[in-house]
Amino acid sequence: MIRFCLNGSWIEESAVSSDMTVLRYLRTQQALSGTKEGCGSGDCGACSVLLGEKQDGKWQYQAINGCISFVAQLDGKSLITVDALATKGSAKEKTPDQLHPAQQAMVDYHGSQCGFCTPGIVMSLAALHENQGGEPADHHKIIDALSGNLCRCTGYRPIIEAAENMSKYQNNSADAGQVGIWQPEAETKSEAPVDVAAETEAGLFHAASNSDIASQSWSPKTEDELKTLLAQHPEARMVAGGSDIALEVTQMNRRLPELIAINDIASLKTITVEDDSILIGAGVTYSQMEATLNEHFPEFGQLLHRFASRQVRNNGTMGGNVANASPIGDTPPVLLALEACIELASAEGNRWMPLKEFFLDYKKTEQKQGEYLRMFRIPRLQKNQALKVYKISKRLEDDISAVLAAFKFTLSNKEVGEQTVISVSSGFGGMAGIPKAATNLEQALVNKAVSMEAFEEAAQVLNQDFAPMTDVRATSEYRMQVAQNLIQKCAFELSNPNLVTRIESLDKSELSAGEVANHA
Ligand SMILES: Cc1cc2nc3c(=O)[nH]c(=O)nc-3n(C[C@H](O)[C@H](O)[C@H](O)COP(=O)(O)OP(=O)(O)OC[C@H]3O[C@@H](n4cnc5c(N)ncnc54)[C@H](O)[C@@H]3O)c2cc1C
Ligand code: FES
Ligand code: FES
Repeated sequence: MIRFCLNGSWIEESAVSSDMTVLRYLRTQQALSGTKEGCGSGDCGACSVLLGEKQDGKWQYQAINGCISFVAQLDGKSLITVDALATKGSAKEKTPDQLHPAQQAMVDYHGSQCGFCTPGIVMSLAALHENQGGEPADHHKIIDALSGNLCRCTGYRPIIEAAENMSKYQNNSADAGQVGIWQPEAETKSEAPVDVAAETEAGLFHAASNSDIASQSWSPKTEDELKTLLAQHPEARMVAGGSDIALEVTQMNRRLPELIAINDIASLKTITVEDDSILIGAGVTYSQMEATLNEHFPEFGQLLHRFASRQVRNNGTMGGNVANASPIGDTPPVLLALEACIELASAEGNRWMPLKEFFLDYKKTEQKQGEYLRMFRIPRLQKNQALKVYKISKRLEDDISAVLAAFKFTLSNKEVGEQTVISVSSGFGGMAGIPKAATNLEQALVNKAVSMEAFEEAAQVLNQDFAPMTDVRATSEYRMQVAQNLIQKCAFELSNPNLVTRIESLDKSELSAGEVANHA
């Protein structure tokens, strides 16, 4: 039984297929067709909906992609779709419908032409508006909120103008304390579901039967429950954010007859800052870890702005990224460079291991049947240590890496410009079948002066560490060349710490793009 609040009303579902996506559920089971399907793979944002969780007694909402989330992940949550965003007027009291500020601003600033992207864009902007408490958002936040929304015909200028101006409209939402879709009343027993049969008969919708395969899904609330489920159902798959596993359903037409949603287990969602290390639960989403990473590992935090889109980061987890073991996943190389350890747990007990021992072969890991990833332990940086992280991809946002390179340098305690390398740990993505350290490079850099020449020379050994492949993202030669260039870039940045060398830092600096390029 999955129980959640849909547009302000609590409902129970006991018969939907385990692998039914939220988008498919809304359109075929609830006759809520305002939410659109574009790509079905998390890339366009047309399916954006708002997912609410109760925090400190109040519901907080974030935009997620309905097409790559499963209904099983909704247990205990509140879901708002574009269909319910406007406040309904009353015929009796002669009050008109009132659009949400995000909707009204999109109308007034001409933010829509064909309109296909519009429901998703409105939902992303509504999330921004609510989380700003109705206050204006700065340009950076607006771009961030729209990072997962593709518009092919209006163009972004009017959409951004709508975002800049939506705070001028009357706020009818969460912060106004209104009980309704934003702050649903206390959970009651089930309410009558929408009469989809009648809608279908009217020829409006083709409603698939609720469960078209023999399937089961669970939403455990504790790790003990999870361990028992994994022991009893060894073939069951786990879903945390769904941003990898849902693609198996929507892009590869696979079925997931047994699914365990682990996104509601509080003990997997903790962040603890200790004197010497930081513990991050495998179920913490990227949006939840952003502040901690920005504070303790700024370059790791900065990487998150290049990682997928806001919608994906609101749901996706580091546990999913590491368990998925993709050679082009972004966080494993950084965690390798940071010498992180990982905790695996099962009904048999818990075990810790260095992450570098976790990846065995292409998509093969140390994770055994019945086990799950529980926690990451990341040593904090010492004063004489520096983390460098570089993502090479064709687009700034929402793109997969061709190469990801991460380095932790331990430097001699000398002035900048006179330092030498005491030790290095590294992690590379896109260079081998697994995320991997470059051990020959690490040795070649020891005792080297921090200079472009010395690092360029050391970088030549990288072809002893890797023989990268050619694929749709980059050729083998390109990958090797860019990785070697990044090693030189480390020397440049370490010896010029005050220069702006990253395009991502532009909006925080006074420099223009041209000046940054000149500096770099
Ligand atoms: C549009 C889009 C853009 C993306 N961009 C990027 C990007 O820029 N960089 C990048 O690296 N990735 C990217 N991804 C991939 C994906 O978002 C990440 O890999 C994400 O971290 C997966 O986490 P999740 O919680 O969504 O995993 P899920 O999809 O829920 O799970 C992935 C796999 O891990 C398993 N799993 C999940 N949690 C655990 C656990 N605690 N223990 C054991 N097994 C577990 C699941 O069973 C499943 O097999 C993108 C995906 C999309 C759809
Ligand atoms: S339909 Fe394109 S992101 Fe969901
Ligand atoms: S208005 Fe047509 S895609 Fe955005």
